Parts: sequence; structure tokens; C-alpha cells
Amino acid sequence: MRFPPSFLDEIRDRVPISSVVGQRVNWDRRKTNVQRGDYWACCPFHGEKTPSFHCEDRKGRYHCFGCGVSGDHFRFLTELDGLSFPEAVERVADMAGVPMPARDPEAEKREKQRATLHEVMELATRFFQDQLQSSAGARARAYLRDRGLTPATQQSFRLGFAPDSRNALKEYLAAKGVEKGQMEACGLTYFGPDVPVSYDRFRDRIMFPILDPKERVIAFGGRAMSSDVSAKYLNSPETDLFHKGNVLYNHARARRAIQKDGTVFAVEGYMDVIALAQAGFENVVAPLGTALTENQLDLLWRMTSEPVLCFDGDKAGLKAAWRAADLALPAIEPGRSARFALLPEGQDPDDLVRNEGPDAFRAVLAEARPLADMLWQRETAGGVFDTPERKAELEKTLRELTSRIRDESVRFHYTQEMRDRVHSFFGSTRGRPARPGDRDRPPGGRGQWPRGGAATPGRLTISESLMRSSLVRKAGGVLPLRETVLVVTLINHPDLIDTHFEEVETLDLAHADLNRLHSAVIDALAHGAAHERQAIVEALQQAGLADCWQRCVDLVRKARQWPALEDAAAEDAREAFSQALHLHRSARTLHRELKAAEAALATNPTDENYRHLVEIQAQFRDVQATEALVEGFGVSSGRAGRSF
Ligand code: UTP
Ligand code: MN
Repeated sequence: MRFPPSFLDEIRDRVPISSVVGQRVNWDRRKTNVQRGDYWACCPFHGEKTPSFHCEDRKGRYHCFGCGVSGDHFRFLTELDGLSFPEAVERVADMAGVPMPARDPEAEKREKQRATLHEVMELATRFFQDQLQSSAGARARAYLRDRGLTPATQQSFRLGFAPDSRNALKEYLAAKGVEKGQMEACGLTYFGPDVPVSYDRFRDRIMFPILDPKERVIAFGGRAMSSDVSAKYLNSPETDLFHKGNVLYNHARARRAIQKDGTVFAVEGYMDVIALAQAGFENVVAPLGTALTENQLDLLWRMTSEPVLCFDGDKAGLKAAWRAADLALPAIEPGRSARFALLPEGQDPDDLVRNEGPDAFRAVLAEARPLADMLWQRETAGGVFDTPERKAELEKTLRELTSRIRDESVRFHYTQEMRDRVHSFFGSTRGRPARPGDRDRPPGGRGQWPRGGAATPGRLTISESLMRSSLVRKAGGVLPLRETVLVVTLINHPDLIDTHFEEVETLDLAHADLNRLHSAVIDALAHGAAHERQAIVEALQQAGLADCWQRCVDLVRKARQWPALEDAAAEDAREAFSQALHLHRSARTLHRELKAAEAALATNPTDENYRHLVEIQAQFRDVQATEALVEGFGVSSGRAGRSF
């Protein structure tokens, strides 16, 4: 029934929200301030050990800073206790000592009608369930068995079968006293001016009942068993009971499972939800054949603060993921966001758990990426930001994106995060005014050497630099900059050899000249040379490597990699060295893994080996791009070497 808003306001005002909520939680003594009407407790919605659930009498609202639930008296009672709205109103009115308003007969009639529609849907569900067990359902049973669904699973999702008949359901319902108009209102029959006799909507299909949060059947999805039928799934039309954009498949069960699983996943199809449930994942929902809607996202957020949205790993899946990211972005709030998981190419969750078991799906979930990553990846993937204009364009796109976030503080942090990413991506130095002489002056001391992009603005395209990358260069050619920097830094700052001895000893260098220098150094130290620059350089000269050493130093100087040089401050040298070393090692490791993955695929061309190769290739490109940026803009301290 409908209540006049003034009535709702009145009872809300009379009853402090803390007395409604207080019946279900224990207030935290230390944080709570009763005088101010300011209460804290462990959140009853998501379960936690330290109280982040806040309830304020003055505002008449509660809010959990952990899981993001919020609402008023009625919301609390409907969501936590599962009361219907009128029941919640009645409860609060009772507490307020205010009599319920006189009933609105019109509204009451509508309420009754809806109740009977629920009954009709329930009858239909039972009919379909019975049909599945009858002789007419033999083929449907075989189909479900072939798809790996156990009878127990079929029962718990109340799966059924609509026989191949234009009036089987109609006649069954009529015999139970259901009127024609009610069948139509439930969307169970086709009818209309050009349909002389209405007939069953679902024929020869496996039936998937769709439940509302109170587990009443409000619609059906019907799957054809053969692939030559035009619509694979036929769904109920919009009715009084069913608005598909506001409903999540498996909502009620997932909400219950949250208590134990802590989070909730959204996948794309009915079959995915059911297969996952059978594999032990009950906290899974799906939209109903459309892209996720804003309302559905809200439903997810009411269950958990950071749902994981799963998409197929193909182009369409990625597009759908981006669309969902765009949908979520404006509505994110402190502690309220979404994560994104992409499945291996060509598989949906149903295939994955059936073929590879639950751990495979767990692995996919473990790789879920935050929203910020999704957006960053979309805006930068495959881009070449080789001119100031293109860089500016990227910045503009990111600014535009973050400006869509409605919450001020989240918007602020996003803006900062994106700015940081851009800076580390370009090795930029904004914020530090350029000093005269920065470009060519060797360092006079700590922190004096040019950092990042200011030294060589916009010189590079990623692709060009990838070609220059030491990883694709052959040994014996041009000296690779990063490796040269490593070796020169070591020799000029032998303290580093002591502090990084193992890494230095096992340093894996691609270029022959650098290898010779490296061995000569290790040799000299092993034979008792002093750990001093002068002693080491002399050892190199004795080994006939004077020219080679000089070329390396020249390259480093030309590339303005001051921290590697003799007179750089020890701290600067150490910082640049660790950064280059880190990058070097990930690049070398990945290079080896890449070779191994290629070999594996050549000898054993399975899907899995293919996926593995694609994955390594992607990581390799990432490292190359970082490296290219670092090389192109000068090894800067700090961020440039951070992976992104
Ligand atoms: P899918 O094609 O992924 O279906 O569509 P599925 O759930 O994996 O089913 P199987 O494995 O092919 O049996 C995802 C969802 O899109 C909607 C349904 O909700 C389906 O679960 N859909 C799909 C339709 O509504 N109509 C269609 O014709 C196809
Ligand atoms: Mn499927």
C-alpha cells in the first residue's frame, strides 16, 4: 500500500533511528556518543571486527564506511530483517505509537493483484518442474545432464521444462482457476488484437525461473535446446512483477552467501551462475541478457562495496567491461567501487569451471583489476604518445574521465592518481622548475642532476624505442644503454658491488663488451683488488679493456645519465642503479620466459600454451614500454621505473 509522505516523515521523526538499529547491533562504547546521537557498531550487513557502521539520530540515517550500505529506518528493516515495506512502516509506527493511516482501497486492490500474479507464477514454475520429470521432459533432462548439471542443482534453481505445445500451460492454469487476464499479465501467453486465440509463450524450452530478492518467481528465461531455433533464450516480457533492468539473477542466494564469502561476482549468463553455484561459488549473480544497468549496479553495491564484474576475455567482453567501468565511474564513493576480471579468451565461467575446475575460476578472480586500472589501460593501450600534443590529449581524456566522478574526495584522489600515472608513464618532471644549465651540467651534488623528461622533452615514440630496446638488439651491436649504465655505475661506485654482491655477480648481460667488463671486474675483486674505483679501472686497463671502458663512459655521458658517473653523489648512484637493475632483471626474465613459451607452443600447440604465450607477450611489452620511456627520457629518480 501507499503511505502519505507526511506520515512516513512523522514516524521517522518520532523514532530515533538508533532505537531501530539498536535492536540488531551492539553499540561500540568507545566510539559512540549518546548525547550527540552519534552511534557506532560493527556492521550487521557485512560482518566485521572493528566498527565502521555509523548511525546518526539527527539525520535519521545509517551508513557503513566499510561496505557502503546506507539508509533510513525502513531501509534497515527491509534490508536486514527482510520485512516488506508496509511491514517496516507498521513496525516503526508501532514504536512511535502512531496509528496506521486508513487504507487506500485502490492501492490495496493493486497489491492483491500482484499477490495473485505471484501465485500464478508459482503455479507455472511447479508445472514446468513437473514437466521436466515427466516423459515429455526426457530430452530436456538429457540436455541438462550433458551440460553437467546434477539433479540437485536443477532442483535448487527450480529448473523446468515447457513442453512443445501451444496450450499445455494455459490449460493447466485454467484448470487451477487462473483467469486469462492473469496469464497475460504474467507474460505467460501471447495475446493481442491480431492473435485470435492466446497461446503459450514458452514452448519446447528449458525453463529458468527468475526470483526476486524474496525468492518469489517473477519471470522466466527459456532456453532452446537446439541451435536452429532463432532465439537461444526467450525471456518473460516486462510485467508488473518484472522489470529486467532492476533484477539480478540469483540475487537472494548471492546475498545470503555474502555473509560467508564476503563479496559478490557478476557474470554474464544464467548457465554461468548455475555452473558456478554447483562448483561452490554461491555469491554470483547475472544481469538478464542486457548489459549491466545502473540499477543492477546499485543492487550489487547494496550487497558489497566492491563487487567483481567478470567478462569474457575476447573483444566483446573487454568492450562490455569498459562499458561497465564507464557506468560505475560517476557513482563510485569512498570505499565503493568495482573490480574487473577477464576470463581466458573463448571461455565463459561455465566452460572454465567445467573444463578446469573451481581453482581456474578462483585464479581469474584473483587477477581482478581495480576500476582505475581498467580505465587507464583503455586510454593508453596501443597508444603512441610521442608528441606534446598527443601527451596533452591523453591528459585531457583522463581529466575528462575523472571529472565524471560525482563524489568530491574520490574525484580528487582519482585526479591525483591519473596524474601520477601520466608522470611515471612519461617520466615527467612537472612541478620542479627547470634551472639554467640543467641540461648539460654534470651533477654538483645530491639531487642536482636533471630528472626525467625536462632533459629531453618528447623525443621518443614508443615503437621506435622498442626497436632500440636492448632486448631485441643483438649482442655485439650498439651498446645497450641500460646495461651500460649498470656496468658504468658499478665501476664508478664500487660500494654498490659490496651491497649488491649477489646480483652483481650473476648479472646477465646481453652485450659481449659489457660481459667482458663485467668479468674483468669480478675477476679483479676475486684476486684481491681494492674495492676502489681507481684500482678497478686500472685492472680494466691491464685486461686490455681501456677503449671499451671509455666508450661506455662516453655513451653514459652523452645520454646524460649523470648518476652513473664518477662524481655523482653516492645516493643518486645507488637509486639509479637499483632502478635500472630491477628493470633489467624483469626484462631478462621475461625474455627467457617468452622464448620458453614460444618453444612450448611450437611443440605442443594447446590453448593453454597459447594463452600463456599471449600473457607473457603482454607483460614483455609492458616492461619494454617502461624501459623505452626510461631510456627515452633519461633515467630519472623515483617514478619513471615504477611499473604501471
Ligand atoms: P550467453 O549466450 O552467454 O548464454 O548469454 P549462457 O547463459 O552462457 O547460456 P549457454 O551456456 O549458451 O546455455 C548470456 C545471457 O544473455 C541472455 C541470457 O540472460 C543469457 O544467460 N541472452 C542470451 C538472452 O536473453 N537471449 C539470447 O538469445 C541469448
Ligand atoms: Mn555459456
